[in-house]
Amino acid sequence: MVCLGNICRSPMAEGILRDLDMRGAFDIDSAGTSAYHVGEAPDLRATQCMSRNHHDISNLRARQFKVQDFDSFDRIFVMDKSNMRDVLSLARNEEEKGKVSLLLRENPKSAVSEVPDPYFGGEQGFEYVYGLLHDACSSIIEKYGH
Ligand code: 4NP
Repeated sequence: MVCLGNICRSPMAEGILRDLDMRGAFDIDSAGTSAYHVGEAPDLRATQCMSRNHHDISNLRARQFKVQDFDSFDRIFVMDKSNMRDVLSLARNEEEKGKVSLLLRENPKSAVSEVPDPYFGGEQGFEYVYGLLHDACSSIIEKYGH
């Protein structure tokens, strides 16, 4: 799961998918395209939103996406088109480019294709983002988790 800062959207997506993946079928991680917040815990508003929805992401720490992630992961889900451009710019070949997709495209019912950045907004933005992420992660489990 990849976003810009790895302190709001992608750690939330990581936490949700981890908790939905009750069989432990997947190796799940998250990263940011930027180094702005490397080493930091998730944004308090993200942690609190997750807590209200019964997930604990307080022990996650931000890291920057690296080219070796293409070796470690089969699928790379990005939150928006800007993340998509940044991740694709690091891909070394067509196979690696093919691993990258918008997370919300996993949910055929989603009316929006990008997860909006909640960083500069209020708590409501986090609950909205949570809903988008939860629906998309549920679709992933339905599709690949059985
Ligand atoms: P995220 O949100 O990409 O969902 O983690 C952001 C966090 C920090 C910044 C931007 C977006 N920032 O500019 O510091």
